[in-house]
Amino acid sequence: MTLSLDTNLKIEAATVPLVATVAEPEPLFRLARAPQPLAETLADVQATADLPLNQARTLPPEVYTDEAFLKWEIDHVLRPGWMCLAHVSQVPKAGDFIKLDLLGEPLVLVRGKDEVVRVLSRVCAHRGADIMPPGYTYEGQRPCAEAEGPAGCGHARFFMCPYHFWSFDLEGQLKAAPEMQQAEGFCREAVHLTTFRSEVWHGWVFVNLDGKAPPLATQFAGMTEDLANWQPAEMKVALYREWDCPFNWKVLVENFMEAYHHLGAHSQTFQPLMPAQDTWVETERPHYIRVNLPFKAMPAPNPAADFPTISSLREQDQRQMSVFLGYPGFLLFTGPDRLFWYRIDPLGPDRSRLVTTMLVPTSVTSEPQYAEKIKAADQMLIDFHLEDMRVCTGIQRGLHATGYQRGRLSHLDMPVWLIQRYLAARARGTYPTLDRPAAAAQR
Ligand SMILES: [Fe+2]
Repeated sequence: MTLSLDTNLKIEAATVPLVATVAEPEPLFRLARAPQPLAETLADVQATADLPLNQARTLPPEVYTDEAFLKWEIDHVLRPGWMCLAHVSQVPKAGDFIKLDLLGEPLVLVRGKDEVVRVLSRVCAHRGADIMPPGYTYEGQRPCAEAEGPAGCGHARFFMCPYHFWSFDLEGQLKAAPEMQQAEGFCREAVHLTTFRSEVWHGWVFVNLDGKAPPLATQFAGMTEDLANWQPAEMKVALYREWDCPFNWKVLVENFMEAYHHLGAHSQTFQPLMPAQDTWVETERPHYIRVNLPFKAMPAPNPAADFPTISSLREQDQRQMSVFLGYPGFLLFTGPDRLFWYRIDPLGPDRSRLVTTMLVPTSVTSEPQYAEKIKAADQMLIDFHLEDMRVCTGIQRGLHATGYQRGRLSHLDMPVWLIQRYLAARARGTYPTLDRPAAAAQR
């Protein structure tokens, strides 16, 4: 089945449970407008972020379109930040792995024999080959069957580079290297795949590529408490879908975080349930944003689709959904019975890979109606996400157009303005300290 959004985007719907891919978008016509120099863009970001919310406007288009700006972001925002890669339920057993590329780094996330989840480089410590190139398997390593999980995941007893058969254990330590007896001073024990700094927080596995970020427990301290009642570490990824996005990663982040667009893009889906006018942003924090989306009225129970409300949630969280952004890109949408976690990887200024997932408490997976409920949830996620894909695709085209104008923001765009302040702090080198008084909550 093909879900046709417009001429630029065709989505191949899943024929395999829980797995789907998105067809390459047709090339978009891009206007060749010379970007302003990076230094000017960075100065502009800071000046724009200095405006109070009631005078706020959008950032210069180069922030979303310029290769030089993306390179700056990689060095000053993304590699220094904590990037969420997976949830522990995706690698439940020793040897389970997920192969993924992040900002040009070939990585494998793997649960070791010691049960510790690590993020290793897939670059062989011999001559730099990818130890897990596409289609390469051997006795001791196999990819997941399609029904078991998404492409890129699998199970290994050890890793073996296909180039010269150097082999490594699940912790990345070199175990064997043929014909190295004449290499003077070669010490097998000293050879290890590069291990990137990683931490597990509430069940999610994060990587910090530059190795210098403060620990996640410190960074996300307030959010740790906010989410504790969902017990995310005890949840399970029940839905997984990949989307090829013809837009900048921040276009999606901003779209995810502001509920103003419920009025337009989700006028038939979210707006009747969580009107934009009732949503409100909490006090500015240095490391994350929380927006609350109260239900207009408690939705009528739908036994064919709902899971039981998570009883440990406080009253307020049983009567609303919330969206969170843990800078730079950890996106979470919480509901009374489930969580939606999104992961967006920039592939270029105009292109990103998005993974959308849904997590449910492990206890509900044995419900008799579980499979039907997941199917219903999958369709619902496709429906509302296509509404977002349509606007985000249009925005990226607009950012390249000579008719593009830098618009004014509504108070309901407050998360967009908070993201500007975060980027400005990164540009000034003042992050993670708030370099101005924290903006007040909207309620
Ligand atoms: Fe949306």
